[in-house]
Amino acid sequence: MQTETLDSNAPAPSDKNSIAALAKMGEVWKDRAEVKNEEPEVDMMYSAEYDDFLDKLIPFHQHPRYAELNDDMRTKILSSGWIAYNEKTIDIESKIISPVCNEIIYGTLPGTRNETIRWLAAETLVDEAYHVLMVINTTRATRMQRGLMDLRLPSFELVNQIDLEAAKYSENWQKKIVRLVACICSEVFISDYLSLLSDAGDGVQPINQITTDAHRKDELAHAGIFRHLTKEIVQHLTPRELVFFAQMLPRPMRWFASQELNVWETILHELGYEHAKEVIGDIRAEAEVALFRVDFSELIDLAQETGLLDTPEGRDSFQAEGLIN
Ligand SMILES: [Fe+2]
Ligand SMILES: [Fe+2]
Repeated sequence: MQTETLDSNAPAPSDKNSIAALAKMGEVWKDRAEVKNEEPEVDMMYSAEYDDFLDKLIPFHQHPRYAELNDDMRTKILSSGWIAYNEKTIDIESKIISPVCNEIIYGTLPGTRNETIRWLAAETLVDEAYHVLMVINTTRATRMQRGLMDLRLPSFELVNQIDLEAAKYSENWQKKIVRLVACICSEVFISDYLSLLSDAGDGVQPINQITTDAHRKDELAHAGIFRHLTKEIVQHLTPRELVFFAQMLPRPMRWFASQELNVWETILHELGYEHAKEVIGDIRAEAEVALFRVDFSELIDLAQETGLLDTPEGRDSFQAEGLIN
């Protein structure tokens, strides 16, 4: 009988290479994890002389109104962009990645009742919890220094979309796969934000670059971990689950590419920016989603390595999302 709960851990041929690679990654964690390093002194290093963020990461930086901003408003917009980016990071860690790590620890995802896999999930959970702490420290400093303690943001489009998609399906195993693929997408592609910021050089708040670089290093390791985890999970899916997984896998890329214009609209209103409506309206008319800004090559590689692109459902879904021709 087919399982409805998506916790099939029936023996399927484990990929020995994946388990061996994961075991190695588990071993090096104690040396590479940022949580094992000294914590950056955010409050001591923060200097209001620097911008907190890059102009090019603001979705309306090419709008003619942006060039007209006075220094004070531009600085506040950049700082709010940094805060929003970090608040979104908290959501990704807490609402997207950690729940999947917990599923793995409990062995409630196919193929995860394996001590090496549980070990890796537990280490990753610690990494992500540490990233939440780093991000809270850095945004607290920014909020205090820039007078933005009261800036409150609405929920992110990314999280809304995952919830909406999960709600479309009646079966628990389908909802789990929606959340699983969102986690996989997040972990296998390294947001260009992280490297753009950590390599920004002069002009951008050094402590923000240090924090982002620390995060980026951990995420490079996570990308490898989730590639191997995905291979393992895919091998243990039932045929019906595999079809659904192939249909869902590319979908989150569009959610990750959201320009989060609702969040930006709120920010600009809260900052008292007089042209908020005009600027956001213009950008909304252009593109709510900036798929061109996301590098999804890693996801395509993964779909290839797992054989999903050899299935009609996998090919169709990647085509439909515009990730392959
Ligand atoms: Fe993280
Ligand atoms: Fe991660």
